[in-house]
Amino acid sequence: MTDVGRHPRIKLYSMSEVADVKGYVGNFEVKIIKKARYVDEKECTACGDCATVCPVVRPDEFNHGLSSRKAIYSPFPQAVPSAYVVNTSECLGHNPVVCAKCVEACDKGCINFHMSDKEITEKVGSIIVATGMEPYDPTEMDEYGYTRFENVLTSIEFERLINAGGPTRGNLIRPKDRKHPSSIGFIQCVGSRSARKGHSYCSNVCCMNTIKSTLVLKEHAPNIDLKVFYIDIRAFGKGFEDLYKRSRRLGVHYVRGLPGNVEELPDGSLKVAVENAATGELEFYVFDMLVLAVGVQPSRGTRRLQEMLGLQLNSDGFYLEAHPKLLPVDAATRGVFYAGCSEGPKDIKETVTQASAAAVRAIRLMHKGEILTEPITAEVVAEDCKFCGMCAEVCSYNAITVDKKKKTPAMVNTAACAGCGTCAAECPFDAISMNHFTDGQIVTQIDQMLELDSQEKILAFACNWCSYAGADYAGVSRLQYPPNVRLIRTMCSGRVDESFIWHGLNKGAPIVLVSGCHIGDCHYIDANRWTEKRVEKIRKKMEKWGIRPERLQLEWISAAEGMRFSKTMQQLEKMRREVTPKEISETIEILKEKLQ
Ligand code: FES
Repeated sequence: MTDVGRHPRIKLYSMSEVADVKGYVGNFEVKIIKKARYVDEKECTACGDCATVCPVVRPDEFNHGLSSRKAIYSPFPQAVPSAYVVNTSECLGHNPVVCAKCVEACDKGCINFHMSDKEITEKVGSIIVATGMEPYDPTEMDEYGYTRFENVLTSIEFERLINAGGPTRGNLIRPKDRKHPSSIGFIQCVGSRSARKGHSYCSNVCCMNTIKSTLVLKEHAPNIDLKVFYIDIRAFGKGFEDLYKRSRRLGVHYVRGLPGNVEELPDGSLKVAVENAATGELEFYVFDMLVLAVGVQPSRGTRRLQEMLGLQLNSDGFYLEAHPKLLPVDAATRGVFYAGCSEGPKDIKETVTQASAAAVRAIRLMHKGEILTEPITAEVVAEDCKFCGMCAEVCSYNAITVDKKKKTPAMVNTAACAGCGTCAAECPFDAISMNHFTDGQIVTQIDQMLELDSQEKILAFACNWCSYAGADYAGVSRLQYPPNVRLIRTMCSGRVDESFIWHGLNKGAPIVLVSGCHIGDCHYIDANRWTEKRVEKIRKKMEKWGIRPERLQLEWISAAEGMRFSKTMQQLEKMRREVTPKEISETIEILKEKLQ
């Protein structure tokens, strides 16, 4: 952090908040609100004279209330910039009659109560989102007595307590009576892996953090009695299993099972009741202190930033990467990357790895000063646009703008357009053309494929990234599937226009398949959700018009599911055989009438 603060080409805005982000890759405009510090950060040397004379005493947030600070303070020992800050809601005021002791004490005259928040605008080419995480607040888990018993601490509080730079200078004492504890219990998975309270995901770091704490404690007090209550210990990672074994060798007792209840005894000790899952017995333990290994959760500003940058969140509330394997640090919005826990819980090593990858991805973009975009983008046919705004609504990349009031035709930002084709498929006026996947090109493919013996063909639309690759995989794996399947590749299943389905059926196709990536895996954020809705709508129409809806199938097949592709095609072939020539000619008659 100090290096970052000193780097001549890095501007560091501390105490700042991103208020708005506009633009697209290479041209982002970021509005930042820099909060007033009331101390000149360039002049302040953090000598602390101001804090010495400040009469206001408040709990220190950095030490989780285990120590105190003044109303003028340094947020934490290695803060960058190394300057004090005034909390004006706590400060008694700068009027000398009231206080202003800090102003008098500061020889350099750094304190200025007339500072105000500043609005700054920065133009940047790419953005790295590193909003981190925050610890789970266990107050709702009343059974562990966190709010009732002083000697129950969270792992973060405990970390500060045993830290050499912490409130007790690393001297381990229990908060209630400042005695040295001779026994400590650790409860794992507090707020993690729980369907009842907290979060259902594993927080990734708590097991190793507890193991580290037990090693530190055993190093300082070899006779201390330590017990860890757990569901299972997740010590994956280089050298982690060894640390776990070392902790056991040093005498730390690992009990499989999470306590159901904690009671405080008159001397401040804590009685824990737990069902030992290994023996099936109800066991009771008494500890001087209890540590709750709290999980992690997305930081508070996650949702706001998500809206500003048009990002996606996964079901756990962390940012969703563009692709879990191939683009693990990229956001679906071009030019935006993730680092650290903003994307999911991770430890320091993983965070550093991901941050390095994100930095390189961003540098790669900026290196040339220009970017190459795919030519597969949407294009608006201005004279056909009726300003309905449907295209803008379905675009997950905010690449289309329509001014309904001014009645200006839709405009596509080709730098932001990813080329899924959903807008072209959804436009009710056919006013959007997809370069390289135009209606004309696809319809011609359908015509060619069904020109001969159409009744024996299966017409299948496959998205480039998953289903088409799945077909490829089936091929290289030498898996058999019927030779009468005719595949049409689109970039995304979202491109499959309703008119393509009707055209295929009208041309005599007995079965039409639309296939794409599994829901949640679409390479264009959530474009396949629109596919799902569209297919559902078409099926309803088919039913109403007297066409068997089963003749239109929707399947999600990933690139690795060659076997699934082959099986799906075999099933479709069975279905095809059930479609009679009479049914096909009746369908053609119906469609002639309905699609006039
Ligand atoms: Fe495969 Fe969207 S990319 S369904």
